Amino acid sequence: MKIDSGLSSPTLPESPPQMGLQFTMATEEDFEEIMAMSQDIYGGLDYLPTRYSTWLQEPHRMVILARKQGKVIALESVCVIDDGETVLVEGLRVAPQERGKGVAGVLLRFCSQLVKARFPKVKVSRLTRDDQLGPKDFQKYRLITKQGILLVRFRAEDMKLCLAELSISENAAEAALLDPNDAHRLFLSSVVMRDVLPNATIVQDWQPFKPLASNMAILAKKNIDWMVDDARCPTVASLCTFPFRVPIGDDWYYLNIDIFGKDLELVQQQFLAHLRRHTATLKGYVMCQVFLDPALWELLAEFCRNTLGVELVKGYTEQCVVESDLM
Ligand SMILES: CC(C)(COP(=O)(O)OP(=O)(O)OC[C@H]1O[C@@H](n2cnc3c(N)ncnc32)[C@H](O)[C@@H]1OP(=O)(O)O)[C@@H](O)C(=O)NCCC(=O)NCCS
Repeated sequence: MKIDSGLSSPTLPESPPQMGLQFTMATEEDFEEIMAMSQDIYGGLDYLPTRYSTWLQEPHRMVILARKQGKVIALESVCVIDDGETVLVEGLRVAPQERGKGVAGVLLRFCSQLVKARFPKVKVSRLTRDDQLGPKDFQKYRLITKQGILLVRFRAEDMKLCLAELSISENAAEAALLDPNDAHRLFLSSVVMRDVLPNATIVQDWQPFKPLASNMAILAKKNIDWMVDDARCPTVASLCTFPFRVPIGDDWYYLNIDIFGKDLELVQQQFLAHLRRHTATLKGYVMCQVFLDPALWELLAEFCRNTLGVELVKGYTEQCVVESDLM
């Protein structure tokens, strides 16, 4: 397969002749068509509408579309991270009427070939999955780490009132918001890598990064809060997105909180600190997805139900960070 070497080229010159698919680089003009085929995905919590324009601007990212008779039927994005050695695979989706026919497999293989040709230093492909992985998947992937996923929903105004009424001990502020310099220094420190991060991986809103200065530069461009319990010697660390809109409804926001560490009380306090920061002014409904050590899931779920009085949207599910050698 011959591949164009110009990163900005909107069209890929030669696509494999499989299944009558053509492959093109996504552009701003494709947005509506991509949204139309994405309507049912992630239970209304699709991040792509908010990220799409930014993704198109990112220098080490490609957003690739598969078309059938000119019509967009699938999308995948690949982003080069880890000092150029890893490709992060994200956003994969196939139009509902085209699923189960092998389209995703063909698109994934096409993207791997493209990455190999354009970024020859890349050795590994990494992704996060939240579906049930079986033995066949683990022949393909190495498991890097797992986080439990706790999904709760609430009205921002109700949460604000509830937080104001919590007892002093539940409100104890063992949560320090970090400025970018401190975040950089702490997340690259050996104590955080070894004792706090799961398998030395920073997972931020589904994106798994090795703790490297180049990745911290990517993360520094995002609108996120970095927190630890103790800035001198952290036991628990967390990252929280700013609330952003998702397709589930007009008044709905999504809040994504990644928490690392095994101390329930400290995890709980960081969770509360993020909620407090973001519900202070927010009006509307919030879908809040918390990623945490699997062993703490049940305990935090109980705290959400009993102390915060919020509704769990679903039971225990897992976020698996997996990788494979780039074939
Ligand atoms: C998941 C989805 C993309 C699969 O599309 P499809 O064309 O029906 O899938 P295929 O028939 O090509 O087969 C699936 C292949 O993709 C792989 N796959 C499934 N989900 C994947 C994911 N999230 N990331 C990477 N690979 C995935 C399967 O393991 C399988 O690989 P194999 O060919 O080596 O066995 C499609 O069902 C979809 O769009 N679902 C809604 C969006 C979604 O859940 N995306 C997952 C993002 S985490």
